Amino acid sequence: MKVDVLLGLQWGDEGKGKVVDVLTPRYDVITRFQGGPNAGHTLEFNNIKHVLHTIPSGIFRADKINIIGNGVVIDPSIFKTEIDSLLKLGFDLKKTLLISKKAHLILPTHRLLDAASEAAKGADKIGSTLKGIGPAYRDKIGRDGLRIGDILSNFEEKYKARVKQHTDLLTNYYHFDYEEALRDYEKTWFEGIETIKQFQLIDSETVINKLVESGKSVIAEGAQGTMLDIDFGSYPFVTSSNTITAGACTGLGVAPNKIGKVYGIFKAYCTRVGSGPFPTELLDATGQKLRDVGHEFGSTTGRPRRCGWLDLVALKYAIMIDGVTELIMMKADVLDDFDSIEVCTKYKVDGQLTEDFPYELDGNVEPVYESLPGWKKPLTGVTSEKNFPKELSEYIQFIESKLNVPVRIVSVGPDRSQTIER
Ligand code: GDP
Ligand code: IMO
Ligand code: MG
Repeated sequence: MKVDVLLGLQWGDEGKGKVVDVLTPRYDVITRFQGGPNAGHTLEFNNIKHVLHTIPSGIFRADKINIIGNGVVIDPSIFKTEIDSLLKLGFDLKKTLLISKKAHLILPTHRLLDAASEAAKGADKIGSTLKGIGPAYRDKIGRDGLRIGDILSNFEEKYKARVKQHTDLLTNYYHFDYEEALRDYEKTWFEGIETIKQFQLIDSETVINKLVESGKSVIAEGAQGTMLDIDFGSYPFVTSSNTITAGACTGLGVAPNKIGKVYGIFKAYCTRVGSGPFPTELLDATGQKLRDVGHEFGSTTGRPRRCGWLDLVALKYAIMIDGVTELIMMKADVLDDFDSIEVCTKYKVDGQLTEDFPYELDGNVEPVYESLPGWKKPLTGVTSEKNFPKELSEYIQFIESKLNVPVRIVSVGPDRSQTIER
């Protein structure tokens, strides 16, 4: 068996949580491989909405193994909140959720450093979710991180040494007032450490490879999106992990030749939260309409998402980097009431037309659009491709013809059931 990967091709929030939940019945094992509680993955079924931050989106289906891989960064306090709220709903994950000993911890001081760093950047801030992601990955790469496996021995000692480094930075470099916030957060954070101890802490790379060898099917659930990748996204306005297919190899310990299908998810339009360039952004009433109809507010921070038309130049680039084998188009229903739909098929960079993604998405990049007719009919309730309005089928065919990858799933609403396979 191989490991299939599902990832966002845009700036995150494409609907990964929903689709992983829909696909989970076909898999034995669901894994997260990067990111942390900056992610907010929404699932809806039986009129209940769940937002997951650290836990893989397979946990609502019976008889599945869910694994948090080595590439993920975990905030114990947020993890505990997630676990407790799921327990209240009757989902006890102690047997079904396994955690890599090599996953790194987000310390309370990482959150404070995130806040201090963003404050120091002023107008140039990244627009981070302030969950401590950047500082935690910085310590990982700088070989100063603490891992889940560290909880098992001399933890207080190791913790204190790291916190000392961080508070020195906060005091002497950032002049950041942290004491009260640190005291408050440490309390729930250490409670979270106790929660984590109740789970099976594993060498996930060995476990996953053995599961694959024994014929189990595995899906790797990406967080964020390709345009937020630390190497290939709109740097520096990115997150601090590899959100791309290759990230599943390093974030799970799975060799490249073990990767099977790559599902690439995109919205039928584009959104972005936080700062950074966004060529097809609409700052007008059309952008506002996309936000209102699509309920485009962050699942983690509640911030309004910036909205714009679909960008095929960026999408084609993401497909190239990720090796996408099938596409999944989300939120088609949000476009139900537009007379015409614009799609960016080229960029004009310094006066030259190009379909290649440039080094920098700065003010010199101008999107060039092609216009397609809207369908002006509600898609909610459509359950089969046979009932697609002609204009929707044309919209999908247009996208496929430009990207040379088939669109296999079209999502027409947030609920599990509002998902159409082609
Ligand atoms: P993720 O981070 O990629 O999992 O995506 P989010 O959960 O942050 O954001 C996607 C939002 O769109 C959530 O509120 C979903 O409930 C919602 N959603 C997902 N698919 C659809 C769809 O096809 N139509 C509509 N209208 N909403 C959707
Ligand atoms: P999911 O998994 C959308 C954005 C932040 C900010 C930048 C860096 O739900 O798709 P960070 O907190 O990582 O330092 O923030 O990345 N960002 C996301 N945007 N969806 C996400 O996750 C995101 N995770 C981070 O808004 O611009
Ligand atoms: Mg999200």
